[in-house]
Amino acid sequence: MSQQEMTTPQKKRIFSGIQPTGVFTLGNYIGAVRNWGALQDEYESIYCIVDLHAITVMQEPAALRANTMRAYALMLACGIDPKKSVAFIQSHNPNHAELSWVLSCSTMFGELSRMTQFKDKSARHADNINAGLFTYPVLMAADILAYNADLVPIGADQKQHLELARNIAVRFNQRFGQTFTVPEPYVPASGARLMSLQDPTKKMSKSDENANACVFILDDKDTIMRKFKRAVTDSEAEVCYREGKDGINNLMTIYSCVTGKTMDEITAEFAGKGYGDFKSAVGEAVADHLAPVRSEFARLSADKAYLNECIAIGSEQAYRMTRKILSKVYRRVGFVDHK
Ligand code: TYM
Repeated sequence: MSQQEMTTPQKKRIFSGIQPTGVFTLGNYIGAVRNWGALQDEYESIYCIVDLHAITVMQEPAALRANTMRAYALMLACGIDPKKSVAFIQSHNPNHAELSWVLSCSTMFGELSRMTQFKDKSARHADNINAGLFTYPVLMAADILAYNADLVPIGADQKQHLELARNIAVRFNQRFGQTFTVPEPYVPASGARLMSLQDPTKKMSKSDENANACVFILDDKDTIMRKFKRAVTDSEAEVCYREGKDGINNLMTIYSCVTGKTMDEITAEFAGKGYGDFKSAVGEAVADHLAPVRSEFARLSADKAYLNECIAIGSEQAYRMTRKILSKVYRRVGFVDHK
């Protein structure tokens, strides 16, 4: 071992993933993906388009394939550099699904029944409450534990799943000996839960039926301006962050996240001005913030060969990193060595 290897502490590891179920929303971007890029210098980072998770709800195969490629290009356009991070597609690394099976035998039915996302999704897809929808959080735990990730950058809605992953890791370690790192969530202090522009008591979500509820990161400037102008607020005329002002609080959070201004600065900036001016300013700031992502996406999408090369390299790296951990897991649980 060289002197440098002996003295340089190993970088901590990050893992996170996103579903390829459509263009990323402003919520996905601010709550999670933009932090992925920001953290990749400091951590050994692994980022993944989770197509295995996507099929827990009905997908049209050709659309899923196209959406997965688009999501991969979007991930890079949001700042993930495949030279710095391992960036790949989940189904290209079979170790996730293999580990998921082993972990499912250390996960209790009762724990999975308590997952709020399962309850929400099974209410929304009552005709398709499949076993995958139920065991989805085990696969998510496998995604993270397969890399022994230290940190998982996510929005607030994924905290319960992360908590379960931690419990599974602890339980497995207690039963079979120290095997997994127990991961910590990385949830941004601001913007971890952006709300719908049409119903600010609900999370901003891709699957919202109201087209004005959600800003997509590839929306053009006119569309972004229109969505913010129509955002539901309240009947007062005061831009300030206060309980009960859900719509304004959400717009202030968004404005703060894209400009770096504090809530007090925003209140001062719009003192004496109406909501119309404020909404236009938020729209402008968001459109300016997303413009480089849109142009980088256009550039990358035109270079399929580059994308395919990055995907191939990423999945190879991911496979190698996880195979070692999976072999250890197999030995721990008592499987005979595969010669
Ligand atoms: P997904 O694809 O629903 O969302 C991707 C990321 O975006 C965050 N997010 C939001 N943040 C703020 N405000 C919002 N309105 C908002 N909507 C979504 C999510 O919290 C998430 O971080 N199960 C995961 C994907 C996954 C994963 C993993 C994540 C699979 N395996 C392992 C981390 C680690 C999901 O469905 O995210």
